[in-house]
Amino acid sequence: MQITINNHQYEANQGDRLLEVARLNHEHIGYLCGGNTICQTCYVKVLEGAELLSPLSEEEKAILSENLLKAGTRMACQATIEKPGTIRVVSAAEEVRHMLATNPLDLAGYAATMGWEGMVKVPDTLRLQAGREFDLWQLFCDVLTGIGDGWKLIFSAFSFGCCSNEKSETRVC
Ligand code: FES
Repeated sequence: MQITINNHQYEANQGDRLLEVARLNHEHIGYLCGGNTICQTCYVKVLEGAELLSPLSEEEKAILSENLLKAGTRMACQATIEKPGTIRVVSAAEEVRHMLATNPLDLAGYAATMGWEGMVKVPDTLRLQAGREFDLWQLFCDVLTGIGDGWKLIFSAFSFGCCSNEKSETRVC
């Protein structure tokens, strides 16, 4: 089956996590924590095919505000493809890059909105994270990978590739 991420089509299979599909294809998406449901940079907006994805996880219910859920937001490290069909998503990282390229002034409003939506879920998010157990070494490795790729993401956002919707070779995260 095919999935469209940030206007680019990829092959995917049932059971695939959205984050893995994006990463395998070097698509522009955030994952600073390496997929451990901590950083909240992997948000995607589901434009089509929400019913084909796994139901909201407990982690997403704890972290995503009502407004974000109403807007179709999922966490790419949590959502998996469950049924075949057409799925279209756009990542928050791509939305930010698009704003940077087209209207940087929108970023302030976007940051304020996302900040507020995160604030209203702080108690639930803290409860969730406090109750989790991590493999610290694995987490360390995942975060290092995520930070490395995050720098590439930032670099690519400010590079020539930011002025085009075309996928460029410099897009690595
Ligand atoms: S929360 Fe970090 S990758 Fe999803």
